[in-house]
Amino acid sequence: MFNFHSYNKFKFLTLLILTLSILFVDCRNSPKEQNEADYEIIQSAKGKKAMVVSAHHLATKVGNEILQKGGNAIDATIAVQYALAVVYPRAGNIGGGGFMVIRTKDGNYDSIDYREKAPKASTRDMYLDDEGNVIPGLSRNGHLAVGVPGTVDGMEEVHKKYGKIKDFKVLIQPAIDLASNGFLLTPMEIERFNRFKKDFVKYNKSPNAFIKDTLWVEGDRLVQKDLANTLTLIRDNGKAGFYEGETADKLIAEMKTGNGIITHDDLTSYQSKWRAPLVGNYKDYKIISMAPPSSGGIALLQMLKMVEKYPLADYGFQSKEAMHLMIEAERRVYSDRAKHLGDSDFYKVPQDSLLDAEYIEDRMRDFNPKKSTPSDMVAAGSFAVPMETFETTHTSVIDEAGNAVSVTTTLNSNYGSKVVVSNAGFFLNNEMDDFSAKPGVPNQFGLVGNEANAIEPEKRMLSSMTPTIVEKDGELFMVLGAPGGSTIITAVFQVFLNVVEFGMPLDDALFAKRFHHQWLPDVVLYENGGLTEASKQSLKDLGHSLKDVKYMALVKAIHVQPDGALHGVGDNRSEDHAAGY
Ligand code: DON
Repeated sequence: MFNFHSYNKFKFLTLLILTLSILFVDCRNSPKEQNEADYEIIQSAKGKKAMVVSAHHLATKVGNEILQKGGNAIDATIAVQYALAVVYPRAGNIGGGGFMVIRTKDGNYDSIDYREKAPKASTRDMYLDDEGNVIPGLSRNGHLAVGVPGTVDGMEEVHKKYGKIKDFKVLIQPAIDLASNGFLLTPMEIERFNRFKKDFVKYNKSPNAFIKDTLWVEGDRLVQKDLANTLTLIRDNGKAGFYEGETADKLIAEMKTGNGIITHDDLTSYQSKWRAPLVGNYKDYKIISMAPPSSGGIALLQMLKMVEKYPLADYGFQSKEAMHLMIEAERRVYSDRAKHLGDSDFYKVPQDSLLDAEYIEDRMRDFNPKKSTPSDMVAAGSFAVPMETFETTHTSVIDEAGNAVSVTTTLNSNYGSKVVVSNAGFFLNNEMDDFSAKPGVPNQFGLVGNEANAIEPEKRMLSSMTPTIVEKDGELFMVLGAPGGSTIITAVFQVFLNVVEFGMPLDDALFAKRFHHQWLPDVVLYENGGLTEASKQSLKDLGHSLKDVKYMALVKAIHVQPDGALHGVGDNRSEDHAAGY
């Protein structure tokens, strides 16, 4: 039976198999594929033509691939948004909303609001008990905390208006592939999955991809078949794949398993809104940011105007004078925020007055360089020290043609309401907590509000998200924004000043420790290790109370260098990733 020929055939086949398997192993061990775990987080990157900075290396990669396929910054942003919905489930989303600011290569500005809306059945007092007290947690966890999601509608709108790659499928397919093939979880996501496991179990009746019997450990991959199916429905049907049909039915069924009030009518009537961006100046810089229902743009412009006439650069970075001035500006602006800001479709926000130069001058008239402002304007307030690390997510993109996008999107808290739409695989937001549930009662970020931000059906809740683009002498200069709840606005304010006043390269500007004051409570938060004992003492001597926190806000920014090269930087407080070419 055994002959030479068959032996040779055997030898040949063995050799072939061996060679192939060596090739295969070799291929798997090639630096690119070798080990998914060997990815490198790059927080500071340079590019000659284009740049993406996002919260996750896989999303940044997707954005770069779309740019290299000839997509513009808007196409890349859409692809990144969907990729983040898969690889960054704590904030990337299809069950949330956001704001996007765009500067086209021709220097035109635009912005879109795809913020969540209060369901039609919501009422002003829906989170209060019979005695008029806020029921703890009701606006933060579970089905009643959910606002009508805006992301899918928003992405369709921006694609229709600005997309260069006309075939939407190209933009969403990378997200579908990531969901169905799975990807390696990062250490931070693993830590959060384990930390929030009991909430996932508490607020979900059926199994989902995020809950497993054992704890998540390094090396675990996340496969999301349900989410891949939902994204495929969106790919094939556009926004109808989310707001109608199978996905909508599942979302409404999910609402009914808890105390949710979102209806089919809420979903089909959701519409994002194009809004005129806010445009203002700081010295030679033009700031383009988000208008209400975000407070970010107004507050940022107010703070910049308040400090503009002072010699910040001479004072020096985190000098007593600079910090005191900035803290006092922050205090005044957040008190305006609490009183005057809300959804301008429902409440007459006095935007022009708030940004009026004389008004701003007047607001700082009682600024005393030697003393914190007497507190008759600062009523005592309790402060919700953040109990979980803040998560939302920001992406900054510049393409080869010079189009720029600054977009911040959120589920609000980590994993939003913690509710996953059963069989559809995505988390729902808890954005209703951004409303003022009761005048003067702080939300999870310690922010208080009033009439302007009271709950009304179909109203959008006030936001602090501050997606911003800066021009200098008519040219694109910077793209920046951040997650971080109430600390977003002060982080954007400080990173910008670190670059333009304190002369820092963007990475130093971002990595530098920050401080924050939001009127109520009357306390300066500072990041651990951020202030020297001497500077703490000098602030105390001026009458400020101080409190340290682990970190605040996660900025992602791009700085256009004088020679036109792009410097992209993500925050070293997280796993942000910058890449360009
Ligand atoms: O819109 C807002 O202001 C909040 N929902 C943002 C939440 C946030 O940034 C959470 N953490 N980073």
